[in-house]
Amino acid sequence: MKISEIMKSADWKAEKHVPVITALGPFTSGEALEVEVAVGKEIPHPNTTEHYIAWIALYYTPEGSQLPVELARAEFAAHGPDILTAPILKTAVRLPKPGTLQAVAYCNLHGVWESEQRVG
Ligand SMILES: [Fe+2]
Repeated sequence: MKISEIMKSADWKAEKHVPVITALGPFTSGEALEVEVAVGKEIPHPNTTEHYIAWIALYYTPEGSQLPVELARAEFAAHGPDILTAPILKTAVRLPKPGTLQAVAYCNLHGVWESEQRVG
């Protein structure tokens, strides 16, 4: 089975596993742009020692290209019971031109989830 066949996607407002990509400002070519990727934005995802989001990766594919560039990756290491890492990746990027941001999130029980967001 190909990895593309096991990637899941859905409407993030109805599915708690979907990574939600938010550009925290206007896109300007070559200027810093803060980007947040959060899992469980509308419906919180469990964060327990048995069930958690292990990591989020963020990619950028410039328009006109088929080759994604990995921008950032966050691994979440604390899943309770008392100490927790929230599944939120926040970074700043500088992009040369409009394109697509893609995020992938991994839940230890429910697999790999993807989403995309156009920038610029
Ligand atoms: Fe899950």
